[in-house]
Amino acid sequence: MRINKYIALCGVASRRKAEELILSNRVKVNDEIITELSYQVDEKNDIVKVDDKIIKEEEKLVYILLNKPEGYITTVKDQFDRPSVLDLVSDIKERVYPIGRLDYETSGLLLLTNDGDLTYKLTHPKHEVEKTYVARVKGKPNRREIENFKNGLKIEDYITSKAKLKIVKYDDKKDVSTLEIKIHEGKNRQVRKMCKAINHPVLRLKRVAMGKIKIQDCQIGKYRYLTEEEIKYLKSI
Ligand code: URA
Repeated sequence: MRINKYIALCGVASRRKAEELILSNRVKVNDEIITELSYQVDEKNDIVKVDDKIIKEEEKLVYILLNKPEGYITTVKDQFDRPSVLDLVSDIKERVYPIGRLDYETSGLLLLTNDGDLTYKLTHPKHEVEKTYVARVKGKPNRREIENFKNGLKIEDYITSKAKLKIVKYDDKKDVSTLEIKIHEGKNRQVRKMCKAINHPVLRLKRVAMGKIKIQDCQIGKYRYLTEEEIKYLKSI
């Protein structure tokens, strides 16, 4: 990349001003003063200094919503070499990471970003935002089971906090219900464990919203960039 373009990308000066810096001997590449305006830098390996200070490309912060398909892990790679959600965003230049997790078998809304502060905030128990899931479960929960689910269930060594559950549909031929579930916590396989605890195991699970951020019409396996408004909202949580 031409040196003046690189200096501009690092946020030091405009391309034109960068040329002035070069002409006044203020730019070094690997500790050698550069005087040639057309000098090409190897941005991965060269060390560029302006006024003896190392400069680096500013990383743009990006915020992405992926509609995760079933059969993808949300970590980088595992010992079974299963596909990772990162394979689905590999055309993004920035190195993004998921905010929280979804199980291998769960589909739906997954946010990814390179904004570490936001990830920290959104995954901290203090801030945990309400997550909405659509679950297909065996059978039809009765009133008592729904109340237990909403008020808190004992799962392993903890009691779940208040949750919401609505029956959206019941297919009596298959004896399968579609539920809308809202929880604030994010313990490992929590929705699956909660449904199992009321004797209605999950058959399929999809996350459709995180707070006000909705999956809407994002196609399965595809991603979209969050809008300015959505980013502002997440930062305000
Ligand atoms: N709860 C689960 O059981 N699985 C998920 O992937 C997310 C929430």
